[in-house]
Amino acid sequence: MSSKASDVLTLFSITHLFLFIAAISLSSAACTEEDVKALLAFKNSFPPNTFPNSWGDNSTSCCFWDGVGCTHGRVTSLSFTSDEYTNDVLPVNLKGTLPPSVGDLSALTSISISSQADLVGSIPTTWSKLIKLKYFTIYNSSISGPVPLFLSHFKSLQQLEINYCKLTGTIPPSLGDLANLRSITLGENKLTGPIPSTLFSKLKNGLLANLDLSENELTGTIPKFFGSVAFKYVNLQDNKLTGDTSFLFGKSKSASQILLARNNLSFDLTKVEYPVKNLQFLDLSHNEICGSINEQITEVLDLRFFDVSYNKLCGKIPRGGNFNPTVPDYFTHNKCLCGKPLSPCK
Ligand SMILES: *[C@@H]1O[C@H](CO)[C@@H](O)[C@H](O)[C@H]1NC(C)=O
Ligand SMILES: *[C@@H]1O[C@H](CO)[C@@H](O)[C@H](O)[C@H]1NC(C)=O
Ligand SMILES: *[C@@H]1O[C@H](CO)[C@@H](O)[C@H](O)[C@H]1NC(C)=O
Repeated sequence: MSSKASDVLTLFSITHLFLFIAAISLSSAACTEEDVKALLAFKNSFPPNTFPNSWGDNSTSCCFWDGVGCTHGRVTSLSFTSDEYTNDVLPVNLKGTLPPSVGDLSALTSISISSQADLVGSIPTTWSKLIKLKYFTIYNSSISGPVPLFLSHFKSLQQLEINYCKLTGTIPPSLGDLANLRSITLGENKLTGPIPSTLFSKLKNGLLANLDLSENELTGTIPKFFGSVAFKYVNLQDNKLTGDTSFLFGKSKSASQILLARNNLSFDLTKVEYPVKNLQFLDLSHNEICGSINEQITEVLDLRFFDVSYNKLCGKIPRGGNFNPTVPDYFTHNKCLCGKPLSPCK
């Protein structure tokens, strides 16, 4: 290598090193006064000793406090759990209500609070200022009250999860206004009323949808519009839903999991065709579904779970291709299903 070439190389790497250091200090070192103030208010809204001493220490940037993440010197993520320590998540047990001060973390894009059984009350209205949020997670807490309407103004929101909490009320139809919201998880709450037919109606083309509303008290029918949503995952188990859901199925659909067990769905399964390439888990058990199982099920490439027990199905269970069920429990308690793994047809 000529000395000129190596000089150029050295200059190149020094420039890169400099950029690298600049990027690190931008991303983590700084911390604005506004953000520090909001974080300290957060800390002080819980009983003393909830947080470790390092939390709130002004001699280190707040970006280095556990559970706090920064981008370009602004606090962009907050993560708290009471479970075992995982990287970048602060293990704490939060006792009390959600602090309004979080609303002042104006650059926040991600908040995740999980396994906080002593966290009570509703989601503060000041959180409506968090318009940059992309990821909103509250999992396994005693948070109650409604699904906040203001979430429908978070244009960047991609994933909404308030799961295994104590939410009541209905699901806001306006959540369907969000073009980036591809994942809605509101399972294991006490939500009532119908599933809004607006959900995912403005979802950007090409994005697959995930919907988990399982273990609530939802009533009415599953919106027909869902027949044109590209679901990857749909879980509506353990509700009080009625009527037809055959439109969720089809040979070329993208769904890998369709979980509808323990509702009161009633439709004819005979002509239903299953997603050939994608379907892996199907649970239709404990409904009022009639008709028979289409032979086409044998064409599904990677089926791992299939349960149609406790329905009103009849006829011979298909067999062959990739479908050779061996567990009777997934077929029992129907009207007159027969053939392996049940007893032979007459
Ligand atoms: C840390 O700094 C903030 C503002 O920059 C101030 O309000 C707060 O009192 C300081 N906290 C401590 C523990 O010194
Ligand atoms: C829920 O959170 C509590 C702590 O508040 C924890 O003990 C429990 O294991 C969590 N449960 C699940 C299913 O994550
Ligand atoms: C389920 O629907 C059937 C009619 O299809 C009705 O007779 C029955 O009472 C319903 N069961 C429940 C638990 O709602």
